Amino acid sequence: MCGICASIGSGNQVQNVLRGLKDLEYRGYDSSGIAYLDKGEISLCRSVGQICNLEKKIDEKVCAKVLIGHTRWATHGRVCEENSHPHLSFKKTLAMVHNGIIENFETLKSEMKDVEFRSQTDTEVFANLIERQSGKNVEKLISASKIAKGSFAVAVIFKDEEKIYCAKRKSPLYVAYRKGQVMTASDISAFENKFEYFYILEDDEFAVLSEDEALFFDCNGEKIEKEKKNFEKVEFFDVFPDEKCFMRKEIAEEPIVLKRTFFKYFSEKLISEAVFQELRKYKSFHFIACGTAYHSGLLGAEFLQFFAKKSCSASVASEFRYGFQTIKKDCVYVFVSQSGETADTIACADLVKKKGGKVLCVTNVPYSSLNSLADFILPTFAGKEVAVASTKAYVAQVFTLLTFAGKIAGIDMEDELRKFVLNCKITQFDRSLFKEIYKFKKIFFVGRGQDYVTSLEGALKLKEIAYINCIGIPAGELKHGTLALVDEETLVVVTSTRGDLKEKIENNIQEIRARGGKILLLSQLDHNIDVEYKIKLEENLEWLMPIESIFYLQQLALEFCLEKGLDPDKPRNLAKSVTVE
Ligand code: AGP
Repeated sequence: MCGICASIGSGNQVQNVLRGLKDLEYRGYDSSGIAYLDKGEISLCRSVGQICNLEKKIDEKVCAKVLIGHTRWATHGRVCEENSHPHLSFKKTLAMVHNGIIENFETLKSEMKDVEFRSQTDTEVFANLIERQSGKNVEKLISASKIAKGSFAVAVIFKDEEKIYCAKRKSPLYVAYRKGQVMTASDISAFENKFEYFYILEDDEFAVLSEDEALFFDCNGEKIEKEKKNFEKVEFFDVFPDEKCFMRKEIAEEPIVLKRTFFKYFSEKLISEAVFQELRKYKSFHFIACGTAYHSGLLGAEFLQFFAKKSCSASVASEFRYGFQTIKKDCVYVFVSQSGETADTIACADLVKKKGGKVLCVTNVPYSSLNSLADFILPTFAGKEVAVASTKAYVAQVFTLLTFAGKIAGIDMEDELRKFVLNCKITQFDRSLFKEIYKFKKIFFVGRGQDYVTSLEGALKLKEIAYINCIGIPAGELKHGTLALVDEETLVVVTSTRGDLKEKIENNIQEIRARGGKILLLSQLDHNIDVEYKIKLEENLEWLMPIESIFYLQQLALEFCLEKGLDPDKPRNLAKSVTVE
């Protein structure tokens, strides 16, 4: 994971880099740091914890025209100042920030007998590898990159030159230009809109940045021309700028996200009929993703199966990647990802592509690494999602995949979906109900069909931000083991939105209540059964109920988290973009 941001310009770059790092903090917040050229030497300032700690630590007199910065999600080495980036090489001739993993760092380290390492990181080994190469600075970086295995996006400063050097392999890196300032970062969201244009670095490309230009090189050191990308094409929106808690803000934005998605796919007809026509020819669809995006993929598979009668399946990317898969020519492989930078998901797309399979990407970030592998792209329009727990991106994915299923099936859903998005609102979670259920320490989420997927997602949210050990399981599976755990201290959150499965779910509720378990029932159906707690859902098209129900389960997790005094935006041990395996 980790975020890198570096800037070179005519004035002091401290605030520019700090601002960029704050925009990248979603990528990790174990520690952060900066390095800059100071009277011919390299100075470091690093701090454990969030960027605000670093900000307080930087001497206000620091004035640097060349500056590299980093926000860390620890991979190699515990969370401490010594392991924080930037890392200096042994002879202090260069400093470097890195996002990725150098897989052969142990071997390389064992060959550097003369170096006294100051940290346990793979990055420090890479910095020393560069220092040991000969030639000009760009040549040193290129040679070291040929020896290093794994993934990296790096920004390097050398003490003898007022420039920033960049290299990229498998981790994202962008460069933005405006007169008097050139900046590089892991994500374009770190660039303020004052920049004129930006470039996307491809694997094994290198950049040398100076105050007024960005030069690019291939792995042979040959100069290359790169396409300038326009910021106008990248759409972000921010509707509740004053809300301090990003997760709450992002949940509140969900109705707007849905309206926008509807507008893009129906009014603007973003994807042409010819594309749907092409995709209809395929017999099957296999969804691949991680975490919350995998849950959207499960729903996508259900939707396509039901509406378009396609044969559908789904895999978690980290399993698919090392499974014994056969890539079929008559199958479309659908990769769902908010960031488009998730390492396992990208690796699977790469694998499918190399074996001649068709790649369809459902992503929220237009110029993401995943999109660069796509044969087809279905964009989602969640806008920038900052909180680690995905909320509005999930809702956008589910709505997009439902729209997609309708289009593939040739069913006209436009009126029903319009009605839904126009009336859609988030009803606040009832505080008095929350006070009743807050006492439960053992919580299960159950449902059938699409409600099982909602249960998986509801449980993931609660684990992720409130650190409550809970699971989501199919209601019909309870009696095959998990029911043994149900007692008077158990809360079972039952989602029931499928009319055809009403009686089946009522039987499951009876089984839970007979063992003393308490029920929180989320349903729009007229259930004739006693339960302890109830949330009445709005009547909507059955296939829209996963969106309606997740509104409540996201808020439930948020309430638990806030009640425990935790930070919902930055849960422990996690990061927003999982760019390492
Ligand atoms: C969601 O709340 C999680 N933080 C996580 O499961 C996330 O959905 C997963 O890491 C996939 O990320 P992506 O959508 O950016 O690929």
